Amino acid sequence: MADIILGIESSCDDTSAAVIKDGWLLSNVIASQDVHKAYGGVVPELASRDHERNIVPVVSEAISRAGIRKEDLTAIAFTRGPGLLGSLLVGTSFAKTFALSLGIPLVMVNHLQGHVLANFVKQEGSENRQPSFPYLCLLVSGGNSQIVKVNSPLDFEILGQTIDDAVGEAFDKCSKMMGLGYPGGPVIDRLAKQGDPLRFKFAKPHIEGLDYSFSGIKTSLLYFVRDEMAKDPEFMEKNKEDICASFQKALIDILLDKLVKAAKQTGIKDITIGGGVSANSGLRGRIVEEGQKRGWNTFLPEFKFTTDNAAMIAIAGYFHYQAGERCPMDIAPVSRIADF
Ligand code: KG4
Repeated sequence: MADIILGIESSCDDTSAAVIKDGWLLSNVIASQDVHKAYGGVVPELASRDHERNIVPVVSEAISRAGIRKEDLTAIAFTRGPGLLGSLLVGTSFAKTFALSLGIPLVMVNHLQGHVLANFVKQEGSENRQPSFPYLCLLVSGGNSQIVKVNSPLDFEILGQTIDDAVGEAFDKCSKMMGLGYPGGPVIDRLAKQGDPLRFKFAKPHIEGLDYSFSGIKTSLLYFVRDEMAKDPEFMEKNKEDICASFQKALIDILLDKLVKAAKQTGIKDITIGGGVSANSGLRGRIVEEGQKRGWNTFLPEFKFTTDNAAMIAIAGYFHYQAGERCPMDIAPVSRIADF
């Protein structure tokens, strides 16, 4: 009999539900929250309230688009963390209640594991290329910058990670500093396409091993803009494309430098990326370029699977379910998870 998994994601500001049948995607519904744009960042209390409003219609839509009845579900997978506690509580409480009312098992998923496994979601009409184990995943989002060695769907090793800010945070904070808006990544990405990446240079960190650091480059940009604006108040407006292109190139150089090192050290040639920043067109282009040069098999997630979505939670949940893992009904969400 087929395993039909409902995935529920509510870790930050996207309410999402997806249905997967034996690894094949039947539906993936996402309700994004625009309310935070006015505040320049996610407001946790507003996020929880929007999740409460969205969760029932989103799940209902996912089941209906999948062409199934709720009674056909085999199990429910939900994001336990990391994320905003209030947001996670909405998804967790809903998942528990729904599983209890249907009399089916509950499976918990680490949100980051979802990003790392996003390439395994199979879709009708798609190529459905999948990396072989072990592979490396460059996991880059608003809260993480890690190089993960994926030994199997349930066995992960963190080879390196940021010791301060995440790369998405660097995009977001610098965009805010330059008055370009929130979230910063997509805006910088767009402006960078029209600019010269070699025009300005920013200080690069010197960190041992495979770890990252992004706080220094943020400060480097801050001082650079401050000094130039003191000489010419219109400097920012006149040069924003070149600043964005040069800053984005510097971030990508930092990311690629350690990824190349990790690939050399492990001898692994199957390389994937995941997380919100993996939507960055400059990063995607450079990974492909680097891959061609080094004989990697590169796997880029589709754009819809780069940001938070329940399809990746459902596929991770499917692997957990198949491994026989079940989650007790007194489970609580957690805002931080130190490891996979
Ligand atoms: O994975 P995600 O949706 O949420 C978590 O952090 O969990 O990632 C959000 C991050 C934000 O920092 C956003 O600026 C960044 O992903 N992002 C991008 C792009 N699209 C989203 N960064 C660079 N380029 C993009 N095109």
